[in-house]
Amino acid sequence: TTRAVVAGCGHYLPEKVVENAEFEATLDTTDEWIRARSGIERRHFAAEGQTTSNMAARAARAALADAGWEATDLDALIVATSTADLTFPSAATMVQAEIGMTKGFAFDVQAVCAGFVYALANANALIASGQARKVLVIGAETFSRIMDWSDRSTCVLFGDGAGALLLEAQEGAGTSDDRGILGTDLNSDGRHRDILYVDGGVSTQSTGHLRMKGREVFRHAVEKLAETAEATLEKAGVTADDIDWVVPHQANIRIIQGTAKKLGLGMDRVVVTVQDHGNTSAASIPLALSVGRENGQIKQGDLIVTEAIGGGLAWGAVLLRW
Ligand code: ACO
Repeated sequence: TTRAVVAGCGHYLPEKVVENAEFEATLDTTDEWIRARSGIERRHFAAEGQTTSNMAARAARAALADAGWEATDLDALIVATSTADLTFPSAATMVQAEIGMTKGFAFDVQAVCAGFVYALANANALIASGQARKVLVIGAETFSRIMDWSDRSTCVLFGDGAGALLLEAQEGAGTSDDRGILGTDLNSDGRHRDILYVDGGVSTQSTGHLRMKGREVFRHAVEKLAETAEATLEKAGVTADDIDWVVPHQANIRIIQGTAKKLGLGMDRVVVTVQDHGNTSAASIPLALSVGRENGQIKQGDLIVTEAIGGGLAWGAVLLRW
């Protein structure tokens, strides 16, 4: 069996850090409320003029250095984002040019907060079907550009950043002991568009702002995330006991805790970065993977399940052995 095996990872966070307390000056909110309801303490915001493709390229270079690869080694580049610099061309082709990747192909995947999981599943399919051997998968977002800064129920929750993962085709025995992606599960249900969306785009000739019915998104999140994570375990023939790390989309600590509990896993087996990054949408999982690897939590051979849900609704999970 050809597996998509992790060859390296990296991330980039913009310099500017905003603590919860800074919102108290302009909004009817408190550090305590934000911490208690979301687990978020601070987030990074892109500098004026800094774009998604710029942050993505920085994360890409970090991952390439980690693997000891050159950009010209790559066959494919996928960027998961809902905040591409322009309507077109894709952020991925901009990153391709910026890092000096001169062959192969590049494209964006748009599944909002589930974008990185969707992009990983696509990269896995490209590798399994022999269309690419070396693939760069990036999640990158500048959600600060689509915030309504007068809406306290959304603008305190999001942040900017980018994370990147390199995948390489490798032959395995076809068992769950193989390194690489062992299972994927993708879902969407477009009937829920009104609970999480941006009220602008090509049809309105403006970028628009993120709108969210937080309580309703929350209600869907725990159940669907546990379900999709369990589906990947079942496909690979492993159980929750075998899992070393859950690396969830980092939207809200209470969703993360609720999902871990439903899976029967203690929080000591969950990589948590939401306190420092806020919700970075498609960037949150690769950021958490890279930070988790850097701080010694994630080691080669660890069995990891990632899961995410976001606008659409779109949700899914990927099981992989690091
Ligand atoms: N500071 C103080 N009070 C606030 C704030 C704030 N920043 N924001 C909202 N409130 C108020 C509300 O107005 C409400 O007041 P009311 O009871 O008088 O109406 C009260 O706090 C409680 O609001 P709830 O919405 O019930 O609070 P909840 O506990 O649900 O927490 C939150 C809100 C954090 C948004 C939560 O619902 C959540 O995390 N939802 C899921 C979001 C998510 O996971 N999104 C993931 C996908 S993101 C993507 O795809 C881009």
